[in-house]
Parts: sequence; structure tokens; C-alpha cells
Amino acid sequence: MKYSKYSTVIIGSGIAGLYAALKIEQQVNLPDGLLLITKSKFGESNSRYAQGGMVAVMKENKNDSTVSHISDTIKAGAGLSEFNAVKYISEHSDEVVKDLLKFGVEFDRDENNNLCFTREAAHSVRRILHSGGDATGKMIEQALCRKVQENENIEIYENTSAVELLIKSNLECKGVLVFNDQTQDYEAIYSPAVILATGGIGQLYKYTTNPAGATGDGIALAYNAGAIMQDMEFVQFHPTALAIDGEENRFLISEAVRGEGAKLCDADGVEFMSKYDERKELAPRDVVTRANFSEMKKNNLPNVYLNAACIDEKELRRHFPNISKKCLENGIDIAHDFIPVAPAAHYYMGGIKTNLRGETSVNGLYAIGEAASTGLHGGNRLASNSLLECVVCAYSVAEYLKSIELKTPKQIDSEMKSHIDRYSDEDIILEEIDVNPLKKKLQNIMWNYAGIFRDESSLQTALIKLKNLKKEFPRNLKCLSTDEYEFRNMLTVAFLIAKCALDRKESRGAHYRTDYPSEADIAVHSCITKDTMKKSIEQETDFVK
Ligand code: FAD
Ligand code: SIN
Repeated sequence: MKYSKYSTVIIGSGIAGLYAALKIEQQVNLPDGLLLITKSKFGESNSRYAQGGMVAVMKENKNDSTVSHISDTIKAGAGLSEFNAVKYISEHSDEVVKDLLKFGVEFDRDENNNLCFTREAAHSVRRILHSGGDATGKMIEQALCRKVQENENIEIYENTSAVELLIKSNLECKGVLVFNDQTQDYEAIYSPAVILATGGIGQLYKYTTNPAGATGDGIALAYNAGAIMQDMEFVQFHPTALAIDGEENRFLISEAVRGEGAKLCDADGVEFMSKYDERKELAPRDVVTRANFSEMKKNNLPNVYLNAACIDEKELRRHFPNISKKCLENGIDIAHDFIPVAPAAHYYMGGIKTNLRGETSVNGLYAIGEAASTGLHGGNRLASNSLLECVVCAYSVAEYLKSIELKTPKQIDSEMKSHIDRYSDEDIILEEIDVNPLKKKLQNIMWNYAGIFRDESSLQTALIKLKNLKKEFPRNLKCLSTDEYEFRNMLTVAFLIAKCALDRKESRGAHYRTDYPSEADIAVHSCITKDTMKKSIEQETDFVK
């Protein structure tokens, strides 16, 4: 086993991880250096696929104000958005956007070189910056990747998965154990600051807009480390993923297309959104998702349609070049044809509970980006607030780290060593498991029983099926591949989602219970730790034992 030490380790090379690396390198004293780890190729992430844009309440946008953005965010959040988090993130947006521009990020501008703002559902004004038309994530990500790669003070490990956090019995994080899938080597990395920027969980569902790596790893690692998890039942389903037969990882048709005027309709072109909400296509995402899903169920069809033909053709093609191209590859001309769309798992509002400095309930462990639950999004994220949160929280964790001393231990701690040695135990002989069919089973369970509409019976069924699935995966600690580690993490997070959804006996935001269709009078966050979970399910299952 190789041992190493760094003043800070960042796990994840999405926008949160990349921007944190740049800000920490710029400002923090790092006697033992800075390491950025990613399980994929450098830069592969959910961030890369972000389309619509990034919220920015810019001083020069005279129609907008932080008051208006805070109000829109809180309204969409269904009572669970934390005012201080919303205010902090909104008020820092102007500053972080200007900083991104300095790092070489280019947002789309008009002929007078002014920033262009688009609109998305439940935003009361145009306040969303975009880049490359509908390739915002890719453009931000590429600029930040370039800056990180050029920076000699940031070391990068690719194809390297974090598989366990090194936690002392006093709940202090001392570092992380990582596994390189190509060399099959483990490395124990000691660090006083471990930052999880590992993204979301879309791959837990049969239909998702998320790429293959969104398996909830950081969330499972933090949970196993004893950290507090918040609002785990809140999964956001996007209403308009391109519904092409046979494709379960679905290409997104950005909400910005509706923001520019596209309408949802059935195969005959009959619009239906006014039946569900007076804001129609621009109602909050959870409302539009349930409307689409209900129409599909009612008509027993695999999709509804989006009609973008009402948008000026030149503008449509200019603003959405990638959506236009992808649809054309599938024989759909977005300026003239209806686009088949259906809901898909898209974003995770739940996750590792953090404060605005990125601190989790475990000392030395931080979380930022989609893996974290800061309280910004509440029960339903407002479109394009995620990229903003990634950047502002990366900025704030760097601000915090510069105020503390980052001391690495002089020698290897014996408690940690016995922990790590379990991975190099030659006596453990494991046979490789083909996790692909198991992943598919898990995705079906979550889609069918813990999806857009849930009830007591479906969630109980999900828990029983997950428990049975766990029996097909006899791994307690060490796994043989990144795929196996991912599946282990998916099982952990799936179980937490189903359990928390069962416990929340109301409908709120993206969590919709058909047996409790109303909101409770008081909005409360759900919190869970490994200990409380163990206690609450001791009678029901041996899943976490
Ligand atoms: P990610 O970008 O997902 O990065 C996670 C990183 O962690 C990856 O590099 C991954 O390889 C790495 N990783 C994970 N587990 C491990 C491990 N065990 N060990 C090592 N590395 C690990 N949001 C908006 O605000 N606006 C949009 O327009 C928008 N459009 C979207 C469109 C699509 C199709 C999708 C999927 C999402 C969209 N979102 C949008 C949401 C937004 O993109 C994400 O929430 C955000 O990019 C998450 O960034 P992140 O840095 O937290 O995580
Ligand atoms: C989209 O472009 O519709 C996605 C925006 C988001 O998820 O914030």
C-alpha cells in the first residue's frame, strides 16, 4: 500500500472540484500540496453536460435583483430552502461570475458585447447566463480544466476512485483511501482537508439525464463515515429528456427551450399544461414533470411532445445548436417537428449536510456541489441554480481554508493503519461480480417504486427488493473494480432515498406521495446518519449491519 500526504485533497473534477482547486491554490497555504482526484478521465462529470446555463444576478442586469432571485428560489424550494444559504449564494453570484471570466470562461454576448440572459421555468426575469448556446457546462468546464492543468501546484490523479474516508473514532476525517482501476493499486492519502465534490445520483434511476459516473459515491462515503445526510428523499426529475426508444441515459432538451416559448402537447398538438398550473410550461420543474408523467400514464404512451416550432427558427438554431444537432441525428427537425420528451432523473437536492463553508458534521470533511445539501434548493431546485451553487460554495470553502492551519500528521496513525490494512489482506479472496445486471435491477426498482410518484406500499416494496438485491452482492468492504465500488455506493444511497421517502408522510416539492398528497403544515428537513438509520431499521432489515 502506498502512503502519501497532502494539505488538501479534492475528490471530483466537475465544476465544483475544479473551481475549488483553483481558488484554494490561489489563496491557501499548502505546505504539503494540493491533490485533485477523479474516478473518470479528467473533467468527465455531470457538469460537462449542463445546457441551459448558470444563474447570475449581475449588477448590470437592471431588471434583476437578489431580492427577486431569493424570492423565486424560496418559492420553488417548497418551504425547505434555507434563507441564509439562498441569500449568501445569490449575493455572491456577481463576484463569482466576474472571477470565472478572469479564468477564461466565456458567456454568450449580444452584438454590443453585453452578456445575454435567458429565462427558465419559475424565474421571474431573464437572469441565466449561457455559453456556446446550449453547451454552458462544457464551456465552463473546459476553461477551468485548462487552468487546472496549466497550474503546476495542482496534482491530478485520473481513473482513481475514493473508496473509503479515513475516519478516527472521534469522528475526525484524516484522509481518504483511493483505488486505481487501471493499476488495481490502493493508496492511503492523509490530509487535514478532504473535499467531496463527487456530484449526484442520476444513475440510480432507469431513466436519467446523468452520465455513467453519477452513482452517489461521495454521499455513500460520507454516510459510511458517520456524516449527517439531509433531505435524502428529494430527487429532481427533469420533465423533458429526449425520449428515443431504447435509450435509458437520455439527452436533455433544456428547460431554456420552454423559457424561449416552446409548448408541451400530445401527439395531436393539443397543449395540456394549463390543466395543471396557470404558469403552464414555466411552472416549477416538479409540477411540469408530474404533468408530463400523468399525461403519459393517462394515454399509456412513453412520451409527450415539445413543440418548438413557435420560436423564431434562426433564434432557435442559434441558441440551441447542440439540441438541434442531436435531434436531427434522430430524424427530428426541432424547428418543424414535435420533439418526443419524457421525465428522467436529473438532480439530487438531498445529500451531505453542510454549512456555507462546506463543512460537514465530520471534522476535516467538506462537501460542495451536487453531493452537498446546503439548503439552497429545498424540496425542488430552481433551474440553473446548481452551477451557481457549485461555484459559490467552492469559493467559500477556499475562503474558509485560508483562515485555518492545514497540518498533515507526521506519522501514520495506528488506528488508521489497521483500518487501511483490511484492504491489503491477502487472505481475502474475492470473485469478480458482473454488476451490470445488478445495476439494471437497482435502476428499475428505484424508477418503479421510489420515483416521481410514491406511496407507502411502493416504498416498502423498494426496500424489500433492495434488500434482496444486496444478497446478490456479497461485499462488505473490499471490492474488485470501480464498477463494484460504484454499485456498493448505489445500493447504500438507494436504500437511504427509499427509507427517507417512506418516512416523509407528506408531498412537498419533488417528493410526491399519492397516499399523502398535501403538504404538512410545517416544513422540516429530514436528517439521517448511519447510527440513526441502524436504530430505525433494526427491526426491519439487516441491510446496514
Ligand atoms: P459533477 O460535475 O457531477 O462532478 C463530479 C466529479 O466527481 C466527476 O469528475 C466524477 O468523476 C467524480 N467522482 C465521483 N465519484 C468519485 C469517486 N468515488 N472518486 C473520485 N472521483 C469521483 N445545472 C445548472 O445549474 N444549469 C444547467 O444548465 C444544468 N444542466 C444540466 C444538464 C444535464 C444533462 C445534467 C446532467 C445536469 C445539469 N445541471 C445543470 C446540473 C449540474 O450540471 C450539476 O448539478 C453540476 O454540474 C454538478 O457539479 P459537481 O461539480 O458537483 O459534480
Ligand atoms: C436545463 O437546461 O434544462 C437544465 C437546467 C438545470 O438543470 O438547471
